[in-house]
Amino acid sequence: MTDVSRPAPAHAAPRLAGGAPELSVIVPTFNERENVRALTDAIEVALAGHRFEIVFVDDDSTDGTRDALTALAAERDHVRMIHRIGRRGLATAVTEGMLSTTAPYIAVIDADLQHDERVLPDMLDLLRTDQADLVVGSRYTAGGGIGDWDAKRARVSSTATRLAKLITSADITDPMSGFFAITRPAFYSAVRDLSGQGYKILLDIAASAEQPLRVREVPYEFRSRQAGTSKLDALIIWEYLLLLVDKLVGHIVPARFISFMFIGGLGVFVHMGALSVMVALGQPRFLWAQATATLLAMIFNFFVNNTLTYRDRRLKGFLAVTRGLFTFILVCSVGAIANVGIADYLFSDFHYGWFSAGLAGIAVGVVWNYAATSVFTWRSR
Ligand code: GDD
Ligand code: MN
Repeated sequence: MTDVSRPAPAHAAPRLAGGAPELSVIVPTFNERENVRALTDAIEVALAGHRFEIVFVDDDSTDGTRDALTALAAERDHVRMIHRIGRRGLATAVTEGMLSTTAPYIAVIDADLQHDERVLPDMLDLLRTDQADLVVGSRYTAGGGIGDWDAKRARVSSTATRLAKLITSADITDPMSGFFAITRPAFYSAVRDLSGQGYKILLDIAASAEQPLRVREVPYEFRSRQAGTSKLDALIIWEYLLLLVDKLVGHIVPARFISFMFIGGLGVFVHMGALSVMVALGQPRFLWAQATATLLAMIFNFFVNNTLTYRDRRLKGFLAVTRGLFTFILVCSVGAIANVGIADYLFSDFHYGWFSAGLAGIAVGVVWNYAATSVFTWRSR
């Protein structure tokens, strides 16, 4: 019988009942139908003799991945699946997968066989013998490699790796890695502060842990993808910047708000551009030109925010987008009225200078727009 009344010290080797897994392997999937069975087989071979479970976290794949996973789970006791609807994101998928488990050690590996599952036992050993809280599969340490990546992707990755030093002091040669293993206490010490932005869950954990984690790395060679396609696109870079911003100043201002303000700033250029065109074309009434430019800027802001700021809750489909655009314009119109009203009030009744009155009006408008659109336009389900 396990004594449950006394919590085990953080790093003591836990005592597990007969069938309880010692290692939970989390596998995020999005359209990986052709890969999940091969991966499961490979993990079973690699971890033969260990007590482990595999938890797939699928974000509503459209290619039949879930049918493949359902079949696998029916066949094998140690395979499970979490199905998420209405949300996308590697980092949150992995986090929720980890939270659904109780094993003392947790590993994360991609579904597409690009990570080398054969190093999982080494990772587990380093954790179990208390030589590390976090073990990272690294492409950049001696013995590792980036496989057949082209020069551009290699350069982006190495720049991102250098930028990571801004937010964590942990000595990780490959902080972008999506392949790692961690002890449960180390994971819990970070989980409440995770930013959840984008792809970089490992970096997020390392930067969010209460105390610096003891990190070890094991080399592996990044394989090329056999089936399916990469979900990493240009927007990943934007998400990565948001993660950096969030970890740097997120405790003061939310990264999403910074993104929203930045895009609002771009909207000013759209507005002035449109205005100048209409004036050049001889638009007879300035009022109409200004109104049209405002509308265009709002439409621009809506679509860019929908793609960048709210990528994880992105509105898709004609109806959802139309509804979103409509509420966005409505909210921003109220914001504009509040902006003008408050600026005028401060200017005329409190004798603020034009500069501070104008700025205060903008600040109120922006905060309102951000807060209200996050509720009415991009409400989370
Ligand atoms: N649940 C879920 N939701 N899974 C996702 C999502 C998502 O939104 N996006 C991607 N995945 C899954 C994929 O199905 C795959 O199993 C894994 O996450 C990695 O996605 P890939 O699309 O294969 O990424 P990659 O190979 O380009 O990038 C890999 O290498 C990077 C190193 O620079 C990943 O391991 C990254 O985490 C890693 O940073
Ligand atoms: Mn991949």
